[in-house]
Amino acid sequence: MDKIIIEGPNRLVGEVTISGSKNATLPILSAALLTNDWSTFYNVPKLRDIATMKALLLHIGAEIQEDGNTLKIRTKNIKSLEAPYELVKTMRASSLVLGPLLTRFKRAKVSLPGGCAIGARPLNLHLMALEKMGADIKIEGGYINTKADKLKGARIYFDISTVTGTENIMMAAALADGVTVLENAAQEPEVVELAEVLNKMGARIKGAGTDYITIEGVDSLRPITHTIMPDRIEAGTFMIAAGMTKGDVIIKNCPIQNLETLVMKLKETGVEIKAENGSVRVSGDAHIRSVDIKTLPYPGFPTDMQAQMMAMMGIANGLSVITENVFENRFMHVSELKRMGADIKIEGRNAIIKGRPLLSGAPVMATDLRASASLVLAGLAAGGITEISRVYHLDRGYERIEEKLAGLGAKIKRVKE
Ligand code: EPU
Repeated sequence: MDKIIIEGPNRLVGEVTISGSKNATLPILSAALLTNDWSTFYNVPKLRDIATMKALLLHIGAEIQEDGNTLKIRTKNIKSLEAPYELVKTMRASSLVLGPLLTRFKRAKVSLPGGCAIGARPLNLHLMALEKMGADIKIEGGYINTKADKLKGARIYFDISTVTGTENIMMAAALADGVTVLENAAQEPEVVELAEVLNKMGARIKGAGTDYITIEGVDSLRPITHTIMPDRIEAGTFMIAAGMTKGDVIIKNCPIQNLETLVMKLKETGVEIKAENGSVRVSGDAHIRSVDIKTLPYPGFPTDMQAQMMAMMGIANGLSVITENVFENRFMHVSELKRMGADIKIEGRNAIIKGRPLLSGAPVMATDLRASASLVLAGLAAGGITEISRVYHLDRGYERIEEKLAGLGAKIKRVKE
């Protein structure tokens, strides 16, 4: 297992380019199951989660050709309609094959994901929606067993806004009979991107980006060529890195239009953010002001930026309260940040952070993807050596992060344990 070692504090200066979005790529690759000829995707990030999705699609029978960040995929000769436990347990987003397999091949068997480091994360809303569309669903031996001769359009209300739930049902409904209506649908940019991809394939989806989406089923979809949008969470993480290290960083390929709440909050802390020649320039202020944060589904403050923002508040002037409203257990980074000297108290869904002038480097352990990112940020701004173990969490969602940070002047290296 690899470790990341950071010697801080470091001021980050220079240019960095954002990679393709993990959470847009995952459903888009699943959407390739809806058609039987070659589709081509550009700007696919090289990440562990994408490798897991590729392994799953290969298991199902997809053919995949890869050249750098370009991926070609064809799902003509399907040999299995199953997402096995071994793959689903390492990545919950494997459940994104459920909708496409069921709607195109009339059957699907997908392992239930089980426990997760950030919350219970059930799939009940995905299943409720498929049942409303006429699917027969049984839970057997830890698997969701579904069949439906032809899914039918239905009116579906999600009690909770669910990103992959909305995506799964959009894909299922694209080839269903009649019109499906999704109320309280997720509005995340990745949902909009998937709808664009499906529409390019010939689907009839309207309203993506709002909480009311309609999908008129069509008989078949065609393959496409598409460039994946940049990753807003990676971009946000670099923005915070620049702010925390009082740096001056130009972020290229930065989807700032999808980061409005983060930008507003960072400006409140004193960070300067300017769009310049198609890039975004982020300059830190000598004094970081504390801000309160409440995570919410898009367009609210993203839960995927909560841990990173907490690292920043660890060195802010004053007291801040961060409230996690999306996942019930997404504070695993707190005890590790505390090992670096952060003053954080948890009360239910709130974390109360009393900022300190400087954190101190320490050996820490990554527990999930965004928690790992917060430890990297803390390490960049802390005095001394921070050693982060279980880096595979970081590799799930950040492409070449140590290389990108080193390019900005960070003293960071990866070593084999
Ligand atoms: N939920 C239910 N029932 C369901 C589905 C969801 O109760 O059937 C609950 C969840 O337990 C959670 C809330 O609804 O409390 C929202 O979960 P959602 O379904 O939106 O999350 P997700 O689709 O599993 C995606 C991202 C996550 C991101 C969340 C929230 C992908 C592949 N994953 O997960 O990304 O945190 O939306 O924005 O798109 C990450 O990249 O680090 C990551 C965890």
